[in-house]
Amino acid sequence: MHNSETAPTIPAQPVKDRLTAWLKTIRAQVGLALAALFLLLAGSVAYTLYELDLRKHDYEILNLAGQLRVTSHAMVNQAGNYLKDTPTDYEAYNRDLRLFYGDLQRNIALYDKIISNFEARRLDADLTGKHETIYCTWDERSKSQLSRTADIWRTYRAGMFKQLGDDLAQPRLNYAAAYMVTNGKMLLDASNDLAIAFQTMMEGKLALIRLFNQIILGLAAGLMLGLVALIYFNLVRPLRQTVSGFARVARGDFGHQVPVQTGNEIGQMTRAFNQLSERLHALFRLTDRINQGNTLDDSLRFIAEEFRDFLPVDWVGLFFQSADGTRWVLERQHDTGPRTLREAGHFMLPGDKPDLSQPLNIADLSQYRGARADDLFATLHRYGFASATLLPMAGAANSQALLIFAARQPGSYTTEHVEFLSNVAGQITHSLDKTVFLENLVVATVQGLAKLAESRDPETGDHLLRMALYAAIVAEELGENGEYREQINTAYVREVFQFAPMHDIGKVGIADHILLKPGRLDEEQRREMERHPSIGGEVLRRCEAQVNGLGYSIFRVAIEIAECHHEKFDGSGYPKGLQGEAIPLSARIVAVADVFDALTSKRPYKEAWPVERALGLLDEEAGRHFDPEVVAAFKRSLPRVMAIYDQHKHV
Ligand code: C2E
Ligand code: SIN
Ligand code: SIN
Ligand code: FE
Ligand code: FE
Repeated sequence: MHNSETAPTIPAQPVKDRLTAWLKTIRAQVGLALAALFLLLAGSVAYTLYELDLRKHDYEILNLAGQLRVTSHAMVNQAGNYLKDTPTDYEAYNRDLRLFYGDLQRNIALYDKIISNFEARRLDADLTGKHETIYCTWDERSKSQLSRTADIWRTYRAGMFKQLGDDLAQPRLNYAAAYMVTNGKMLLDASNDLAIAFQTMMEGKLALIRLFNQIILGLAAGLMLGLVALIYFNLVRPLRQTVSGFARVARGDFGHQVPVQTGNEIGQMTRAFNQLSERLHALFRLTDRINQGNTLDDSLRFIAEEFRDFLPVDWVGLFFQSADGTRWVLERQHDTGPRTLREAGHFMLPGDKPDLSQPLNIADLSQYRGARADDLFATLHRYGFASATLLPMAGAANSQALLIFAARQPGSYTTEHVEFLSNVAGQITHSLDKTVFLENLVVATVQGLAKLAESRDPETGDHLLRMALYAAIVAEELGENGEYREQINTAYVREVFQFAPMHDIGKVGIADHILLKPGRLDEEQRREMERHPSIGGEVLRRCEAQVNGLGYSIFRVAIEIAECHHEKFDGSGYPKGLQGEAIPLSARIVAVADVFDALTSKRPYKEAWPVERALGLLDEEAGRHFDPEVVAAFKRSLPRVMAIYDQHKHV
């Protein structure tokens, strides 16, 4: 996983992505639900108020429809009464006549006015007693009933006037009254039907409002339910699970993962929690490994492989400060690819004195492209890394150390990563203290033993130092060029350098009269002498078994060197007669370094040879005693070999 949070330029997110991300948040979801609820209720209230405002005219309409009914009843009843009553005197007759006729005219005028208002769909103020004209609408049924009622009214009215005669000063009230009574039912029914039609229309509209309000209430209830579910499933439940996850981690269940169920803030929190849990787990296991006494190489490998899930780690390296404090020496490294940072292993840091009191995060290594070849950042960039984090390790027993993480993506390390890695560096410091210094102690002890063995021969002088340096130089050269490139890394070179001096440690088991014999050895003495590789191998195997018991492996290469440095490439060597690449590479390297130094040194049994003669023998023996690849590397490194030779040549 590569995090690009601190990449130099963050491309603008498309609007659509930002919207999608926003929609996943709780505030967006709850906000939208509440807004929808609000709009729904506000709309419903507004609609209801509007409808009620319209309905307040319904009373007037029904009232007028009622007046039509009352008026038609009045007309028919009065006509009936008029016919029934027999006037007793002329006075009374005239009064009744005027009364009836006056009422009739008023009723006709009222009926006319109401019907024409209805037909025009506007109720005049003088009719309703209101201050303004009321406008109204009819549904289909009311409309057709209105035209039927109006037709009937006109028919009835026409019939009445026909009976009243042409001379309205002398109306024929008897005839008219008879007509009105005979056809009265028609008018009553028509008036009734209109009132009923209007009433039905009003009730329908009220029912519609009621239905509408019920639907709105239902929707609002549904929305509320949805909101509650949203809050439960996206907030309450994930929160509860995360809280119980916290509790589990608190109880020591490191690495516990809570299922992420939402993309909202809680989901983000859960993801952050899971990451935390995972990191705790990894740190815990790392501490565990260190406490169990695993080696530093083991710890670096663990970090590189296990932390890769949540950290950008393509390479981890541990550097020690050189004795003079000017350079950084690559001590250990772990790389995910086949290439390792094997050149020389000595690096400069850019700048005069970079501040190493706290972690240094380099987002873009390419800025050091032009720096000198041994610049550490330039080298990391050359090896394909784009960003790095430097963690100074205080507290390591001797000089200062640097733990460096590198990644192939630029800007891989966030502040969060660096903080986490600082803690890792703290853990590694313990491992440093435990591993490096224990290893160094053991190695120094065994080297002292080797020196003791060698020192019984007063003539060997600096043989061990010279041959170790020759061997390291050849190993380094083989790591750079030739067919053994992939078998050699910095750690291997270091081990060859460290363990080459132990090659003759088995000579402790050889009696002085043989070891220090000034002349040539006889056959039996020679056989006794040739036991020294087996004796050395045996001694170192016991050392290795001891440290294996403590969880370390230190002497693997030392055993190879002690046991096989007298094997010959053509199979004619001792003790086992191994041939070619069956002889460990470390032993093939040491054989060349050891013999070259033995030849150019004075021995109790021989004088020192000149360098040219020794080189001649190496050439001669390439493919017989020596691995030709190793001889070739030795000759390619001759300038460095000669520098050592000149510096440490014994007098
Ligand atoms: P060393 O003195 O450290 O020599 C290591 C190896 O260098 C020898 O392994 C041999 O391969 C080579 N070497 C040393 N001197 C000569 C030389 O004058 N000519 C040639 N061609 N090669 C030389 P090697 O022969 O297996 O001997 C192992 C060890 O046995 C020697 O270690 C030395 O300690 C002892 N040794 C060998 N020959 C004699 C001897 O004639 N007299 C005594 N006193 N010790 C001997
Ligand atoms: C090493 O640093 O392991 C190589 C020793 C050297 O060449 O100085
Ligand atoms: C080392 O690589 O230096 C430690 C020895 C080992 O783990 O093989
Ligand atoms: Fe030897
Ligand atoms: Fe030797």
